[in-house]
Amino acid sequence: MTIYLIGFMGSGKSTVGKVLGGRIRGGHADTDVFIDAQYGTISEIFRIHGENTFRKYESAALENLSAEHEIVSTGGGIVERQKNISLMKANGVIVYLQTAFTEIQSRLMHDTERPLWNTDMEKKEKLFRRRSQLYQGCADIAIQTDQKTPDDIAGEIQEAV
Ligand code: S3P
Repeated sequence: MTIYLIGFMGSGKSTVGKVLGGRIRGGHADTDVFIDAQYGTISEIFRIHGENTFRKYESAALENLSAEHEIVSTGGGIVERQKNISLMKANGVIVYLQTAFTEIQSRLMHDTERPLWNTDMEKKEKLFRRRSQLYQGCADIAIQTDQKTPDDIAGEIQEAV
């Protein structure tokens, strides 16, 4: 069984995944890290090949990592493909890290590496609202992350799964 961490950009999926990986045997992996190593930087993939190609790489990353790791941190857009959701459902537990938009904003204030964040406020808010529904719709467990440390969150996940 694999624990999948899902949630919006900046919700802490990678950081919490690493902490959890230190506590649970079976290892941690991250779809964005896999994509970066296999295909090049995310910004470049978006710029040169477009989002659709990125989504194909992302699905390939998810498939690859699911077979070998007990904890998988996903990219914020993993829920954009139904087949990704089906794979996660079939293979383990989906944990949604739920973070307020204002908190995300302050965490990603200086971020330049996320193509879908580097846009105007209206688009960001719209994406956040739409995605929140998708995360909520497929998660087995939702964990509020505001005002909590990665260690607290990892502990909550361990208790919940
Ligand atoms: C994306 C989120 C990013 C990364 C890419 C697209 C998205 O991952 O996969 O920039 O569509 O929300 P993080 O959620 O780790 O920032």
